[in-house]
Amino acid sequence: MEVLCGFTEDELKKKLKRKLDEKRYIHSVGVAYTAVSLVMRHAGIDKLEDGGAELINLAYTAGLLHDCAKCLEDDERDKLCRSLKVDVSDFEREYPYLIHAKLGAALAEKKYGVTDERILNAIRYHTTGRAGMSFLEAVIFSADFIEPHRKQLIVMPAARTALYEDLDYGVYVILKQTLKHLANKGQAVEEHTLEAYEYYASLCSKKLKEA
Ligand SMILES: [Fe+2]
Ligand SMILES: [Fe+2]
Repeated sequence: MEVLCGFTEDELKKKLKRKLDEKRYIHSVGVAYTAVSLVMRHAGIDKLEDGGAELINLAYTAGLLHDCAKCLEDDERDKLCRSLKVDVSDFEREYPYLIHAKLGAALAEKKYGVTDERILNAIRYHTTGRAGMSFLEAVIFSADFIEPHRKQLIVMPAARTALYEDLDYGVYVILKQTLKHLANKGQAVEEHTLEAYEYYASLCSKKLKEA
């Protein structure tokens, strides 16, 4: 596989190892390979001229980089948001763990030399999701939830099975679980996540009715 950024795969991995703690680095590699497996399952690669090589490389690169801004100290994070002109919403100020997605996209572009907007959007929306995600966005959003090192939540086997059967339905299962988890914690739902839930719930209800 190839990484689609300003560095070789070895250089990129070395950089990420320095910027992430060990658990986060292992998770990122897990997301990269899980994303590749979802591409191989769902992208119809036997019908593509390049045998899916481009999509595989996009997924691998986005997976490796998706949490590149996750392990920053608060000061460093805020400084980078200012210098890279990342708009932080009031909601993100209240729930700062969300910022790493947007900031990660900015870092991927400015510090890691990613120029492909598909990768940048997959990083940007990997935490919240959004309505009508692109194939790559849905793949990274899903791989982030199910990669093999993730905690074995009760929903995990169902989410994993769903995602390898039907990507949209799998995304719906994850969003439903996310809403349940946030409600249990008494936490508000970010608008993109809510819109994503409504979108995928409606998409899947149509599919279920048609079936
Ligand atoms: Fe993340
Ligand atoms: Fe992640």
